[in-house]
Amino acid sequence: MATNAEVIAREAAPAQGRARATATADAPDRRLTQAADRAARPVLALSDIALTFGGVAALRDIDLAVAPGEIRAVIGPNGAGKSSLLNVVSGLYRPDRGQVRLGEHAFAHVPTADLAAHGVARTFQNLAIFKGLSVFDNVLMGLAHRVRAGFLRQIIGSPLARRIEAENRAAAEDVIGFLHLGDVRERAAGSLPYGLQKRVDLARALVARPTLLLLDEPFAGVTLSEKLELSEHVRNARDLYGASIVLIEHDIGVVMGLSDRIAVLDNGSKIADGTPDEVRADQAVIDAYLGVAHQDVTELAV
Ligand SMILES: Nc1ncnc2c1ncn2[C@@H]1O[C@H](COP(=O)(O)OP(=O)(O)OP(=O)(O)O)[C@@H](O)[C@H]1O
Ligand SMILES: [Mg+2]
Repeated sequence: MATNAEVIAREAAPAQGRARATATADAPDRRLTQAADRAARPVLALSDIALTFGGVAALRDIDLAVAPGEIRAVIGPNGAGKSSLLNVVSGLYRPDRGQVRLGEHAFAHVPTADLAAHGVARTFQNLAIFKGLSVFDNVLMGLAHRVRAGFLRQIIGSPLARRIEAENRAAAEDVIGFLHLGDVRERAAGSLPYGLQKRVDLARALVARPTLLLLDEPFAGVTLSEKLELSEHVRNARDLYGASIVLIEHDIGVVMGLSDRIAVLDNGSKIADGTPDEVRADQAVIDAYLGVAHQDVTELAV
């Protein structure tokens, strides 16, 4: 797995190329600095986020950055604020305070309707698939944002409409192949085993090729072999589709094997943030989470 430094260096290479082509008047060291700045810019940065529900603090003073190409886990006990954090990033919740930065754009409240345009896709803790639709049509739903319904009505039957449909179907076929869903592509999604439904949800999120993929407990409730398979798919989503990933997950074995960095929430506050080894050795994390609820977790070779 590439380290963060390797990923950042890899990202810097094309940025430096662009700088050379467009800013020939700049001194070379200045060009390099600008390119490095761009490469180092987080895909997602939360600063000082606070969120309360009727006096209960769901999130307190949360800072969190996700680097390009990073798999960033968020862990913590039930009710720690993990899903609330994803809901703030995807605009479902408006924080009381703080800022969400998606690439170059900063928001006090992320506009949910424009989420896909900002390169963000997500899965939900409770599956968000259409159980009566086929796997293929569920995956296509991940591209529904691309053309507004009014515009689609105007162009229906035109060469442009046919081209858009062909492109969308090709993108859906691509991700169905990528996630090995070809054998069940015509099956009603609701008729599939739970692990496969989770994979359909991942395909629906991935089909738009997001730069940032938010996964809320993608492995919850699946069998061990499905969990190992899904872990590999999440890793491939980063390696082959280039998505940076925020992963909420309770299975510490999976999290330790898959993540570049881990943030730990407890009672709405971030109590630790670091590499898997740093977090594993952190006494506050052991006290609040690892030592209590997950004593019996054995590490998986993912
Ligand atoms: N829409 C809401 N209305 C009221 N309270 C909420 C709402 N969403 C979250 N909360 C509260 O905010 C706190 C954090 O909840 P959240 O769902 O973010 O936790 P979590 O870390 O995702 O937990 P879990 O591991 O059980 O999924 C909890 O006290 C929860 O009851
Ligand atoms: Mg949750």
